[in-house]
Amino acid sequence: MTDRIPSAVPGPGELSEAELAQRLQARRQWLGDTDFAYDPPLEPVRGDGVYLFDSAGQRYLDMHSTVPSMGHGHPEVVSAIAAQAATLNIHARHLNNVVEAYAARLLGLFPAPLGNLVMTCSGSEANDLALRLARLVTGGKGIIVTSGARHGSTATTAEISPGLGQPLPAHVRTIPPPDPSLAKGAALGPWFAARVREEANVLQKTGAGFAALVLESGFAFDGVFTDPPGFLTEAVSAARQAGGLFIADEVQTGFGRTGMFWGFSRHGVVPDVVTLGKPMGNGYPMGGVVMRAQHLARLNASAPYISGCGGSPVAAAAGMAVLDVIETEKLVRNAVRSGEALRKGLRRLARSFPRIAAIRGAGLLIAVDLVMPETGAPDPGAARRAINALQRNFVLVCSATPCGHTLQLRPPLSISAEQVAQFLEIFGGVLATLE
Ligand SMILES: Cc1ncc(COP(=O)(O)O)c(C=O)c1O
Repeated sequence: MTDRIPSAVPGPGELSEAELAQRLQARRQWLGDTDFAYDPPLEPVRGDGVYLFDSAGQRYLDMHSTVPSMGHGHPEVVSAIAAQAATLNIHARHLNNVVEAYAARLLGLFPAPLGNLVMTCSGSEANDLALRLARLVTGGKGIIVTSGARHGSTATTAEISPGLGQPLPAHVRTIPPPDPSLAKGAALGPWFAARVREEANVLQKTGAGFAALVLESGFAFDGVFTDPPGFLTEAVSAARQAGGLFIADEVQTGFGRTGMFWGFSRHGVVPDVVTLGKPMGNGYPMGGVVMRAQHLARLNASAPYISGCGGSPVAAAAGMAVLDVIETEKLVRNAVRSGEALRKGLRRLARSFPRIAAIRGAGLLIAVDLVMPETGAPDPGAARRAINALQRNFVLVCSATPCGHTLQLRPPLSISAEQVAQFLEIFGGVLATLE
């Protein structure tokens, strides 16, 4: 195998324990407590493709970055940002051919009638605007989301993010994730649609009205549920019949993650509104709301959307470079190919390690459930140990589910066959230590 990761015991860069304690204390003084991904925290100082490097020059295989989906520090995206920033960076209330060309190219990737774009600075801002739009268009206030969902950090998007763990207001109703094990043998699509219908009824009865069903097409924070393709169709129809819009949150799944350009395409549905973020600028902070022309006209008639930095030419240049990279490097095809290789290798490991109870996902959005081998009960402790052991072996993985027993793999879409093999070998070694 080429390109092996050495397996010495890492520290956070070259810091001694005392230096690390000092850094943490100084950070806490200025930034408060941080929800670090690892303990001790990692201090990457450079990124290149699928790898991050710490200050000691140690290389980490990054298996959980949905933001720089095209790879860390992608030279084409970096130089597009730098060149445009050196030329002109202005707000969106001017004519600008970089912005106009980007909007036309991006919208060309959407099915009709999704033909209009508002650019924002983040996924949260995009979802916030989508909620405003849905309430304006329907006259309702109520929102339905899945019980583990996260859709952002602004006041209104945190309200529709039960995965953050805070109490929800009465106008936000949750449905269980589309987990076939919860449907108990019933066909998943009709079962999931029935949950939407029930909660839309509740919202109508309480007087909140129903504005929108907001779903992230890969259900990443619920545990990753992507199969069978098409299962969303009935739920989307149920939402529309109840008078609401369907907002597809593509902040995680957009731009090729699931092996199709958009996550919603897997289900053969056309959303009323699509929200974008993270990979859109490969780390340059940008997001977007894609909608129908009459909806944008309605929004503008109520109060135009003015964003200081959203829709700048630098954002458009970053976004355009991302689209170029996806096309020239055939990243959607690679997401399919590398995702299949990963799942195949994981299934092979599952035959040797009964701790792996399930492997789900599409493209390069993959979940691996870890359980107690004796009882089959979810084992969040094992997931934590696996994440830390992987980090000690210079591989970065996360868990992002309510129960915490699910490892999530979502590497840059450029991950190679060798890097997939590298991960599987190291993960197999880690699983052996968990037994
Ligand atoms: C599905 C989804 N929607 C929205 C957001 C919010 O995006 P941002 O952090 O760019 O505001 C996130 C962030 O994790 C997300 O995963």
